Amino acid sequence: MENITLVAFLLLVFCFTNTYYAPNSYAQPVDCLASDREALIDFKDGLDDPANQLSSWIDRKCCQWHGIRCDNRTGAVVAIDLPGSYNRYGLLNPSGVVRPSLMKLKSLRHLDLSLNSFNGIPIPAFLGSLENLQYLNLSYAGFRGKIPRNFGNLSHLKSLDISSEVLSLHAETLKWVTGLVSLEHLALRGVDLSMVGTDWVSAINTLPSLVELHLSDCSLQGHIPILPSLNFTSLAVMDLRSNDIVSKIPDWLVNITSLHHIDISHNHMYGSIPLGFGEMPNLLSLKLLDNENLTANCSQLFRGRWEKTQVLNLAANQIYGKLPSSFGNLTSLVHLDLSDNHIEGELPVSIGPIPISRGSLQKLTSLDLGVNRLNGTLPESIGQLSQLQILSVIDNQLTGPSFPAWLKSQNKVDYLDFSNAGVSGFVPNWFWDMSSNMSYLNISHNELQGKLPTPIPIAQFTAVDLSFNKLRDQFTFRQC
Ligand SMILES: *[C@@H]1O[C@H](CO)[C@@H](O)[C@H](O)[C@H]1NC(C)=O
Ligand SMILES: *[C@@H]1O[C@H](CO)[C@@H](O)[C@H](O)[C@H]1NC(C)=O
Ligand SMILES: *[C@@H]1O[C@H](CO)[C@@H](O)[C@H](O)[C@H]1NC(C)=O
Ligand SMILES: *[C@@H]1O[C@H](CO)[C@@H](O)[C@H](O)[C@H]1NC(C)=O
Ligand SMILES: *[C@@H]1O[C@H](CO)[C@@H](O)[C@H](O)[C@H]1NC(C)=O
Ligand SMILES: *[C@@H]1O[C@H](CO)[C@@H](O)[C@H](O)[C@H]1NC(C)=O
Ligand SMILES: *[C@@H]1O[C@H](CO)[C@@H](O)[C@H](O)[C@H]1NC(C)=O
Ligand SMILES: *[C@@H]1O[C@H](CO)[C@@H](O)[C@H](O)[C@H]1NC(C)=O
Ligand SMILES: *[C@@H]1O[C@H](CO)[C@@H](O)[C@H](O)[C@H]1NC(C)=O
Repeated sequence: MENITLVAFLLLVFCFTNTYYAPNSYAQPVDCLASDREALIDFKDGLDDPANQLSSWIDRKCCQWHGIRCDNRTGAVVAIDLPGSYNRYGLLNPSGVVRPSLMKLKSLRHLDLSLNSFNGIPIPAFLGSLENLQYLNLSYAGFRGKIPRNFGNLSHLKSLDISSEVLSLHAETLKWVTGLVSLEHLALRGVDLSMVGTDWVSAINTLPSLVELHLSDCSLQGHIPILPSLNFTSLAVMDLRSNDIVSKIPDWLVNITSLHHIDISHNHMYGSIPLGFGEMPNLLSLKLLDNENLTANCSQLFRGRWEKTQVLNLAANQIYGKLPSSFGNLTSLVHLDLSDNHIEGELPVSIGPIPISRGSLQKLTSLDLGVNRLNGTLPESIGQLSQLQILSVIDNQLTGPSFPAWLKSQNKVDYLDFSNAGVSGFVPNWFWDMSSNMSYLNISHNELQGKLPTPIPIAQFTAVDLSFNKLRDQFTFRQC
C-alpha cells in the first residue's frame, strides 16, 4: 500500500516536471543539423536516465527536445541545458558517462549539467576542447578528481561553475585560469585548492572582465600577496569564506571600487581592518566574522562613510574602543553584528533617530552587540528603530535603573536577548503584551523585579528564559 502511494506520488512529480519542460518554449522553425542530432543521441545513450527526462529525445526535430536550443538560422545546437533538480528525488537525475560525442557539436555555447549524479567519475577533459563554450556549469554534479588543466583553452568562456561537494574535486594550480580571458563569473566552491599556494591571486588578477569570484570552502592556504597593479576593474563579488588563509587584509582590496560584496569570514586573517572599507563607494556587504586577530579601533572604523553598506558582520574578532557618535551616520545599515569583540563604553544616542539631522539607523532590522564590554544604559533612542526584529546585547556591563522603556514603542521585535545585561527594576505590564509576539525571549541574569502574569502570554514554539532575576514565581522553561 505504501509502495503504491509512493509510486503514485513519483508519477505525479514526473508529470509535473515533464509538463514543465516538455513543450520547448523556443519556437524554432528550423530542423536541427543531422550530425548534431546524431551526436546528441550518442550522448544520451551514455546517460542513465531513470526518470526518463530525455523522453523527448527521439524524433527528428532535435531543436525541440527538452533542454536543447538551436541557432534559429543554421539549426546548429547551441545549448544543452540539463540541470538536475535539488528535490529529494535527486537520485533520479541523470547519471552515467559524458560521451565525447559532445565534441561534434561545433556551435555549442552553453552546457549545464549541474546537480546531476555522475557518481564520482572524473570531469571529462574533452570539454576543454569545446572552444565556443561561453557558459559551463558542472556544479554539484557528482564529479571527482582533478579539474582538467586544458579548461584554460576555453577562451570564450564567460561563466564557469565547478562548485562541488566539499573537497571532492581538486586543482594543483590555477595558472590555467589565465587562459579564460573572457571570464566574468568563476565559482569553484568546495574545490580543494590547498595545493595551489598563493598564485591564485595573480592568476585571477589577469582576468579583466571578472565580476564574481566564489572560492569558499576551498582550503586556500597562505597569505594574500601584494599586487603591483590591479586588473579587477569589474569585480563585484569576492567570496573567500571558510578557507585557511593566514594573512593581513591586502591594501589593494579597498582599491577595487566596483566591489559590492566581500566575504572573508572564517579564515585566519590578522592585523587591522583597513579604514578604506568605509569609503568604498559601492560596498553593500562586508563579512569578516570569525577571524583570528583582526583588529580595529571602533571609533576610527565608524568614522568612515559606509555610504551604501547594508550588511556589516565583524563578529568574533578583536575590535576595541568605543562606538563614536558618528555611528548614527551609517544610515544604510540593515544588519549589524559586532558581537564577541572588545567594544567598550556607552552606546551613542545617535543610534536612534535623535537628532534627525545627524542621521540614524532607521533601516536596521538586526543589531547584535552581545559579548562586548558596553556599559551605561541602553539609550532610549533604540526605541525608535522601528524596523528592528533582532536585538541582542547579551553579556555586557550595561546597567539600567529601570526596565528599558524604549521597548514599548517596538512592535516588530521577534528575537530579544538582553540576558546578563545588568538591567534592573520592575517589568512593566505592557511588556507581557508585546512578548506574545516573540519567538525568542531571554532576559535572564538581570536584576528584574515584579510578578509574572498567569498565564504568561507567549506564543507557541517560543523559547523563553526569565531565570536569575528577582521576579516572583520565577522559573525557566522552553515551550517547544
Ligand atoms: C532568431 O533568434 C533571435 C534571438 O533569439 C531573434 O531575434 C530572431 O528574430 C530569430 N530569427 C528567426 C528567423 O526566428
Ligand atoms: C550553476 O548551476 C547551479 C544549479 O543549477 C545554479 O544554482 C548556479 O547558479 C549555476 N551557476 C552559474 C554561474 O550560473
Ligand atoms: C589546450 O590545452 C592543452 C593543455 O593545456 C594544450 O596542450 C593544447 O595545446 C591546448 N589546445 C589548444 C587548441 O589551445
Ligand atoms: C591584466 O590583464 C591583461 C589582459 O588579460 C594582462 O595582459 C595583464 O598581464 C594583466 N595584468 C596583471 C598585473 O596581471
Ligand atoms: C591603492 O590605492 C592607493 C591609494 O590610492 C595607492 O597608493 C596604491 O598604489 C593602490 N594599490 C594598487 C595595488 O593599486
Ligand atoms: C594571533 O595572536 C596570538 C596571540 O597574540 C598569537 O599567538 C597568534 O600567533 C596570532 N595569530 C596570527 C595568525 O597572527
Ligand atoms: C581609538 O581611536 C580614537 C580616535 O582616534 C582614540 O582617541 C582612542 O584612544 C583610540 N582607542 C584606543 C583604545 O586605542
Ligand atoms: C554625520 O553626517 C552628517 C551629515 O551627513 C555630518 O554633518 C556629520 O559631520 C557626520 N558626523 C560625523 C561625526 O562624521
Ligand atoms: C564605562 O566604561 C568606561 C571605560 O571603558 C569608563 O570610563 C566609564 O566610566 C564607564 N561608564 C559607566 C557609566 O560605568
